[in-house]
Amino acid sequence: MAILTILEYPDRRLHKVARPVTTFDDRLHKLLADMTETMYAANGVGLAATQVDVHERVVLLDLSETRSELRVFVNPTLTWASPETAEGEEGCLSVPGVFDKVTRPAKVRVRAQDAHGNEFELECEDRLAVAIQHEIDHLDGKVFVEKLSLLKQARARAKLRKRHMERQRGPRREPAGL
Ligand code: NI
Repeated sequence: MAILTILEYPDRRLHKVARPVTTFDDRLHKLLADMTETMYAANGVGLAATQVDVHERVVLLDLSETRSELRVFVNPTLTWASPETAEGEEGCLSVPGVFDKVTRPAKVRVRAQDAHGNEFELECEDRLAVAIQHEIDHLDGKVFVEKLSLLKQARARAKLRKRHMERQRGPRREPAGL
């Protein structure tokens, strides 16, 4: 396994639209293993392949406190979204240090495949609904800050510039992001 580099907003590669996975082979399993290691090493609760510059429709989530409930979604699509919306706080490993409220459908149903190509469907609500929508957005080349006001987007970019300069002086602990 290997820890992969996570792209950071406003990297243009975060805007590429990912293509569907068609082969469930060793190469996919290596990608899943590397993404898993990368997500846990970054203390993240979710990671889309787009964020590690692999433009294929692969998402990982682990919302558990114990970091022991890994969920793999290959080719995830929303088959239903509730008309009711909910506002939730979001963060992102590609936008470190930036957290803000985003309004999305409160409940969704997602259809996806597992690591071996078996289809499954999952009803999601609360944080799981937020997380899967956030990650599918990544696969479609969208970053959550783009849902915020232009002023907040400019602030996020300024904050990231500052962080990049600070990081050159030394590492620091980060709260979890998606
Ligand atoms: Ni994210």
